[in-house]
Amino acid sequence: MSNESIDESAHDPSKWVLHLGLAAVVTMIATGALFYFTTRTIFGRSADQATAQIDRMSGVVSLDHGLAVYARNCAMCHGASGLGDGSAAAQLNPKPRDFSTGWFKIGDTRTGLPTDGELAASIRRGLFPTMPPWPQLSDGEMKSVVMAVRHLAIEGQVSSRLMRDPKTSRDAALATAHARLDSGERIVLPPRPLEIDLARGKTYYLNNCAACHDADGRGKLREDLVDNNENPIFARDLTSGQFKGGNGIEDIAMRIVRGIPGSPMPAPVEISASDLWEVSAYVRTLFTRNAGGN
Ligand code: HEC
Ligand code: HEC
Repeated sequence: MSNESIDESAHDPSKWVLHLGLAAVVTMIATGALFYFTTRTIFGRSADQATAQIDRMSGVVSLDHGLAVYARNCAMCHGASGLGDGSAAAQLNPKPRDFSTGWFKIGDTRTGLPTDGELAASIRRGLFPTMPPWPQLSDGEMKSVVMAVRHLAIEGQVSSRLMRDPKTSRDAALATAHARLDSGERIVLPPRPLEIDLARGKTYYLNNCAACHDADGRGKLREDLVDNNENPIFARDLTSGQFKGGNGIEDIAMRIVRGIPGSPMPAPVEISASDLWEVSAYVRTLFTRNAGGN
């Protein structure tokens, strides 16, 4: 019919939408990194503070509101149903989390999802470098979107269970999902001694952590580590002080006690209180010294 030659791909609106989407994601991550560097010492110092913070938040809180906040801000990465399959996911490593897996890297509970306070702290702080922070959400939006994350995690598990085993009733699948994903008991860190022996912390570090994080803490040598999605991952460069869960001594101690689910970082079966605080304090010297501290 028409004798005009048209370059189809240049006019394909879906490509432009994809390009605009990617540009938006890159901008968000860049703004996020800036926020992270300037405020990481303020928010979410410890699990107790995070809980106190969310308890003080007020505003319109509802699941519908949360799902709307989620659709607007989070679905492009985490996917409409929270299965980690948003349009920007392919460009990111680590991948956006599939909430239904129940793997939450930053938390304060022995089983299930982190508490609301910890979830809000992680969302506000972001997970450097691929999950941007959300300082701009109001209290009501934050509380509601935490509700949405919980809801999507549960619903995601229910649908996958029903798909695997269509004879299961929805009620039974729902009960199993709640048993797996509802926040379990909170981890209480042992009391911190007044005097901490850094030399002993260093020895513990060299024997238990250096195999992944390197003797100098830079985490460059192990190229064989993979996360639970089989994507390559490096142990954190501990000299950077850029930690997903905050870099205070209690944050570090919590990461050691709980491990980082979904990543190769293990939770030790047993660690004494003195080893825990000594190695946590030693980790801090790796980046405070780096920043010219001593
Ligand atoms: C630019 C993509 C992107 C956007 C937008 C985004 N996330 Fe994420 N999110 C990620 C990635 C990537 C991870 C996994 C990071 C990792 O494993 O280090 C993640 C992880 C998470 C986690 C798991 C935290 C943990 O402890 O493991 C939660 C909860 C979360 N995001 C919630 C949200 C919410 C709520 C929003 C919207 C307000 C949002 N995300 C927006 C990319 C994104
Ligand atoms: C089997 C390898 C392995 C061992 C052993 C290991 N780690 Fe890790 N560690 C990792 C990986 C991988 C990450 C990055 C996880 C991520 O970003 O998802 C990490 C991350 C961390 C972080 C950053 C936490 C955050 O909030 O971002 C700290 C702190 C840390 N490790 C300390 C330690 C200490 C202290 C020990 C020893 C008691 C240790 N690790 C042992 C692999 C390991």
